[in-house]
Amino acid sequence: MPEDIDRNKEPMAMSFDVTSLTPNSGKYTSIPDTKYNVRETFGLDVDWEVPGFTDDHPNVPEIDKTYQFDHDTTMAILAGFGHNRRVMVQGYHGTGKSTHIEQVAARLNWPCVRINLDSHVSRVDLVGKDVITLQEGKQITKWQEGLLPWAIQNPVALVFDEYDAGRPDVMFVIQRVLESEGRLTLLDQNMIIRPHPAFRLFSTTNTIGLGDTTGLYHGTQAINQGQMDRWNIVVTLNYLSHIDEMNIMFAKFPEMTDDEGKDNIDKMVRLADLTREGFINGDLSTLMSPRSVITWIENTMIFNNREVAFQLSFLNKCDETERPIIAEYYQRCFDIELPESAIRKQAIAAE
Ligand SMILES: Nc1ncnc2c1ncn2[C@@H]1O[C@H](COP(=O)(O)OP(=O)(O)O)[C@@H](O)[C@H]1O
Ligand SMILES: [Mg+2]
Repeated sequence: MPEDIDRNKEPMAMSFDVTSLTPNSGKYTSIPDTKYNVRETFGLDVDWEVPGFTDDHPNVPEIDKTYQFDHDTTMAILAGFGHNRRVMVQGYHGTGKSTHIEQVAARLNWPCVRINLDSHVSRVDLVGKDVITLQEGKQITKWQEGLLPWAIQNPVALVFDEYDAGRPDVMFVIQRVLESEGRLTLLDQNMIIRPHPAFRLFSTTNTIGLGDTTGLYHGTQAINQGQMDRWNIVVTLNYLSHIDEMNIMFAKFPEMTDDEGKDNIDKMVRLADLTREGFINGDLSTLMSPRSVITWIENTMIFNNREVAFQLSFLNKCDETERPIIAEYYQRCFDIELPESAIRKQAIAAE
């Protein structure tokens, strides 16, 4: 019904002009009170200034100093913060979708809350429920607000993580919010919640809303087209380039910057790349994210043995039928055969 949509239409607070707003005054007590220079803050080659907060806050994610900001993804997320755009970040797992949003929020001191729709989040968790409590010896029913109404009323960047894995009842609620310009109607409560001007909405997905056309992501659903339309910006994040990923490792492990360390990291990242190609081609069901490489390096230092560390941090997580493929990648990168015991169970099964 077009009338319905029009009636609900109300422009959302657009970009902040911090020069004309007085912080901590008026109706909203927590609006952005400063601007961050994008070149200085994120190392991107653009002359943008983005609103943010001066003060830290418990819900602001912790800064990862070694974080490498991808240009396009970061620009999209910054447009989300600065101009109140709803941004969806799409890409394979482990590409840095969730952490990109968190790390941008961390630099802007913008509180950020992540809800993983992949878990068993239900409509009730999201919206709220009646709970029975005792008050002066009497049983009373009290409305307990869910995460969504709370977030909408606060200066919070809400991230719906694994958006394409959301349960239908949850997606129904989210669709209502998206269609009503961010307002949430709580029918049982007879209440309409309006978004705080610094409320922001982001999502991450593995698929682009068309369902799983590749067979790589079980449990994902097609996203209703009308709902996809409500996302103003959709950006795709691919794996980091080889050199960028190596640079993350050097930043995290400065002791690895000698020739031997560099050679090692080069090969480790190459192996991770091979597992990603294998995953995309359907040969592997597990891949090494940058996080896996970091853990592998850490474990190598603990055990002082790269191969043992590889087994402990990655190989043992992989399906046994796929271990020979990984052993072959390993051989290609390091010219070393992994011990038979690490892949043996499968070898016996294959006989
Ligand atoms: N650009 C990056 N700079 C530093 N670390 C990164 C980067 N991208 C990913 N990582 C690391 O890789 C891991 C996976 O990232 P994550 O955001 O959870 O991926 P996704 O949400 O796409 O599955 C995290 O531990 C993160 O620290
Ligand atoms: Mg994620």
